Amino acid sequence: MESRQADAVYRGNLSRLLDKIREERGLDLTQYRERYVERRIASRLHMLGLHTYRQYAEHLDESPEEYAKLIDTMTINVTQFFRDSTVYELFRKQIVPDILKSKLARHQRMIRIWSAGCATGQEPYSLAMSFLSAMGPKSADFLLSIQGTDLDRKALAVAREGVYPIEQLEFIPRADRKYVEVLGDTFRIRPEVGKLVRFQYLNLFEDKPIHIVDVIFCRNVFIYFNRDEQERMLGQFWASLARGGYLVLGRSERLATSMTGRFELVDGRERIYRKPLGMP
Ligand SMILES: C[S@@+](CC[C@H](N)C(=O)[O-])C[C@H]1O[C@@H](n2cnc3c(N)ncnc32)[C@H](O)[C@@H]1O
Repeated sequence: MESRQADAVYRGNLSRLLDKIREERGLDLTQYRERYVERRIASRLHMLGLHTYRQYAEHLDESPEEYAKLIDTMTINVTQFFRDSTVYELFRKQIVPDILKSKLARHQRMIRIWSAGCATGQEPYSLAMSFLSAMGPKSADFLLSIQGTDLDRKALAVAREGVYPIEQLEFIPRADRKYVEVLGDTFRIRPEVGKLVRFQYLNLFEDKPIHIVDVIFCRNVFIYFNRDEQERMLGQFWASLARGGYLVLGRSERLATSMTGRFELVDGRERIYRKPLGMP
């Protein structure tokens, strides 16, 4: 009983802290999963040698620069080129040929891809390289546009620059290394790839989604959001996709049950879904 009461006090304090952060900075952390928020704030408390949410609230008042540190902590942008390489194999062998076929049938040239929560850009650049290699000489017949979006401005600056430490080269398949230029201990994305990718600030909680796209990669972003927010966002993705468009989630993410009827399953292991062709 005692520990239950303690738990209630603890949670009460957390929700007061989250209210304060929302009121003062417009940052609504209740849209993230509660346990995730608790863990991330706990890491800040640990760094600062604090023990309670109340102490942390006081610290935010005394040192408002802590808000920026909190935001940095919330937006973990771990990523990698060709993360989970089998997804990219399926993308090259199945998704790209299917999109090209349907574009040709409809006499359309524009192909649009959205990498939502693109962090430092490795995902959209991997998509651009996969697309170019899958299309081969046919690439000249199509106009490809890949939009990478994130709410972390620092990560977006790295993405725009397109220069990465040489250690990351090993994640790029050998055949695709022609798309980068090695510069000593870094490498740069070549302009023929870079020009296909645009980066933009977009907060998935607040900003309008990108319309109308053929593919959405939103990988390893959902895990941080609570169930309601995941459902709302899946609804937006559904509306953003062209008929027959693909949605690719991260390995540990799945469609909310309320959305399973609206998407077709393409590959359960790789978490690839599709908006049915018959839908508006
Ligand atoms: C772990 S990274 C995933 C990067 C990439 N998609 C991948 O799978 O390798 C998660 C990204 O989601 C972004 N993110 C978190 N909340 C967001 C939000 N509300 N709106 C837009 N991006 C968000 C973070 O800034 C971070 O860059």
